[in-house]
Amino acid sequence: MTVKLFHNARIWTASDRGIPLRGTEQGNVTIWERGALLVQGGTIACVGEEIPVRKALEELLAEKGDSVPFQEIDCCGRCLVPGFVDPHTHMCFVEPREEEFALRLEGTPYLEILRRGGGILSSVRSVEAAEEELLYERTRATVLRALSFGTTTVEIKSGYGLDTETELKMLRVIDRIRRTTPLDVVPTFMGAHAVPPRFRNDSEKYVELLVEEMLPAVQAQGVALFCDVFCEEGVFSVDQSRRILEAARNCGLGLKIHADEVHDLGGAGLAAELRTLSAEHLLAASEENLRRMAEKNVLGILLPATAYSLRKPYAPARKMIELGVPLAIATDCNPGSCYTESMPFVFGLAVMQMGLSVAEAFVASTLNAAYGVGLSSVVGSLDRGKRADFLLLAGKSPALFAYHAGVSPVEEVYKSGEKVV
Ligand code: NIG
Ligand code: FE
Repeated sequence: MTVKLFHNARIWTASDRGIPLRGTEQGNVTIWERGALLVQGGTIACVGEEIPVRKALEELLAEKGDSVPFQEIDCCGRCLVPGFVDPHTHMCFVEPREEEFALRLEGTPYLEILRRGGGILSSVRSVEAAEEELLYERTRATVLRALSFGTTTVEIKSGYGLDTETELKMLRVIDRIRRTTPLDVVPTFMGAHAVPPRFRNDSEKYVELLVEEMLPAVQAQGVALFCDVFCEEGVFSVDQSRRILEAARNCGLGLKIHADEVHDLGGAGLAAELRTLSAEHLLAASEENLRRMAEKNVLGILLPATAYSLRKPYAPARKMIELGVPLAIATDCNPGSCYTESMPFVFGLAVMQMGLSVAEAFVASTLNAAYGVGLSSVVGSLDRGKRADFLLLAGKSPALFAYHAGVSPVEEVYKSGEKVV
């Protein structure tokens, strides 16, 4: 059980008080100007100003005796922050969709491409055809790219299967990624990502299949922790989404929803009604439904890089903070609406385009994001007892994520106290 002292660091962390931070607290951070972090066996033993942390170290070594392996790492004044938690991705896919991107640039709307059988459905075809090994290799490459940009915990959704067998295959791959990469991986079942062509004229039948066959099979497989639904015009209605999510809850899954991404269908209102853990996207959500989300403590997960890639107005983040909706941010990394693994890019957009302060974006991408995947007790902030997942930045402040545009300031990535990048 090696003991490590990281010292001479400017440390930023969100202040965890047991609930996601919101409103005037959204930007609540603690900063130690000359900080140190003491790690024992991969978890945080002590953090704070260097002098008291060194005291704690002495006590620990006195207790353990000289036989304990010990290492001291000088951070050379750089900023030390928790690893990013990316709470919304579709990183399990085989190939990007450049031709579709070109179509979108020429003016074809995202949902129109889906209606024509492209978009999500074209990824469904390639995922279905792929050997499990290939899907694993491609997913792994994507996830490791995210790690190099500072993501140490990631949620990954299925949803490019749309039949029982392929959805289970995706979840197996996601589980293998969890076991074979340094990241914490949170698997989400998203069989309700699109209506497959064989049910085009009868989406109710597909909902029936989801509820009666797919969800029980997912439950029996035991990999997925959450269920998500794409509640959108031409995809799943509010009523269908409700049925799917209620069935998922009965299968013991946590609930998430793609709500009001393109149209204001009322997904945010449904999130409040069902008290889902989170409602995600929210570009078009009504103020009334955002207010209901705030009342029911539903976390808003915003995906500014999707607005960027779809050339849509950004989600009204300032309004949400004013209403008291706790906010997280995520990449939404997928081959269609938003192809980026970079949390630094998303952080920059959150600050420059959605008007979050650096501290608010910081909390949104670390602690609140950890709440968004149900892992706030182990990751998301630098608190005693949590995993020692952290980054060393090329400078003194997380402002670099927005300020040094298009460039990642992440110099080193540590997972459970071990350097992984
Ligand atoms: O979050 N909206 C649905 N799902 C993804 C896009 C997936 C895709 O286009 O492949 C999203 O935008
Ligand atoms: Fe998404």
